[in-house]
Amino acid sequence: MKRSLLAALGLATGLAVPAAAEDLTVGLLLPFSGVYASLGNEIETGFNLGLAAFGGETETTFEIVREDTEVKPPVALGKAKKLILQEKVDVMVGVVSSGVLGAVRDMVHGAGVPLIVANAGNDEATGAACSPYITRMSFSNGQINRPMGTWMAEQGIEKVFTLAPDYAAGRQMIDRFSQSFTAAGGEIVGQEFTPFQKTQDFGPYLAQAKASGADAVYVFYAGGEAISFVKQYDSFGLKADLPLYGSGFLTSPLYVNAQGEAAEGVITALHYAPTIDNPANAAFVAAFTAETGRAPSEFAVQGYDAARVLVEAAKAGATDRASLAHALRQVSFEGPRGKLAIDPATNNIIQPVYVYETVAGEGALTQKVLAQLPAEADPANGCEMVPLSN
Ligand code: PHB
Repeated sequence: MKRSLLAALGLATGLAVPAAAEDLTVGLLLPFSGVYASLGNEIETGFNLGLAAFGGETETTFEIVREDTEVKPPVALGKAKKLILQEKVDVMVGVVSSGVLGAVRDMVHGAGVPLIVANAGNDEATGAACSPYITRMSFSNGQINRPMGTWMAEQGIEKVFTLAPDYAAGRQMIDRFSQSFTAAGGEIVGQEFTPFQKTQDFGPYLAQAKASGADAVYVFYAGGEAISFVKQYDSFGLKADLPLYGSGFLTSPLYVNAQGEAAEGVITALHYAPTIDNPANAAFVAAFTAETGRAPSEFAVQGYDAARVLVEAAKAGATDRASLAHALRQVSFEGPRGKLAIDPATNNIIQPVYVYETVAGEGALTQKVLAQLPAEADPANGCEMVPLSN
C-alpha cells in the first residue's frame, strides 16, 4: 500500500523541511473496506490531524505505512505480520474490530511491537490477554456498557430486550451491560445476537423485541449495521412505545445524518461527543470541521489522541519498539474527551463516559449530553501485566 512520509514539523507549520530519514515507522492497521471502512477512514483522518496539531513538538518524523484489515481476522493477521516482519514498523496504530484485536494479539505480544489500539474494545486485550505492548487509547467494551446498565436502572427502566452482532464486541458489550443492569435490579427479558456483517433485515428480531414485554431495547451496532438498524427500528414503528438505547456507536456523529430523523430521541453512552464543552475539544472540533466540513466522531478523536500519545512518547525520548512500549503507557493528558490516563495495571485507558441523546440541531442532528459518568478504571479481568525489561 501507499507509503507517505510525514515530516511532523512541516505538517505543523506548513513549511518545507529538508528531506530526513524517518525516525519512526508507523503501521496503520485499519479497515479501509468492509462494514467498518468508514470507521477506519475516520480514525486515519483524526490521526493525521493529531500529527499536524502536535507533531511540531518533536523533531521526530513519522513514516506511515497503511494496511487494510477488511474487518477479517485472518486477513488482519497477515497484514500485521507484513507490517512487523517486512516493513519493520516501530509501532502499529489501529484495529477497529474486537475480533481482529483477538487475532493479532499473540503476534503483537510475541514480536514485542507496540500497538496503540485506536478503536477495538475487546475486554480481553486489557484483561486476561493483556500485554505491555498493547496500549488502548479508545475504550473497552465493559467501560462503555457497564455504567449504562446502572444509569438506565436508575432512570426507572425495569425490563430490557438486547440485540447486538454475533462477535466478540457484541457479546462483551451486552454481557457487561446486562450484568450491571440486573445488579441494579433490572431484568433482561430477551436477548438475540444477529449474524455479523450478514444481517440485512432486522424485522424478525424487532418483532421478538416488541413481543417481549420490555420497557426498552438496548443494542450495540456500529458502521453500516448501525445505519440500517436505526432506520428499520423507526420504520417498524417501535420508537414511540419501546425507546431505543445503546452504546453510542449506534448514533455516531460519523453516520447519524445518514440515519436522519430515525435517530432522534435515541439515548446512548460513549466516551466522546463533539458537543463536550472544554477548550481542547473546541480546538479539535474546529480543526476537524475545517478539514472535513463536519463534526468529528469518537473514531476521529481516537485517531487524534493516538497521534498525540505517539508524539508524547517521542518527546520522552522513545526511538524504538521497546522504548516506545515503555513510554506509551505512561502518557496522560487533558484532551477533547476530558482527562485521560493509562491504567498501569491493564494498559487500558481511564476516561469519563457521557450519556447523550441524539436531537435535532441547526440543520443537522446533534448530541445533547444528559449525564457525565465518572471515569473508572476497568477491573483487571485476569490481567497480570508482564513488566518490560528496560
Ligand atoms: C469492536 O469490534 O470492538 C467495535 C467495533 C466498532 C465499534 C465499537 C467497537 O464502533
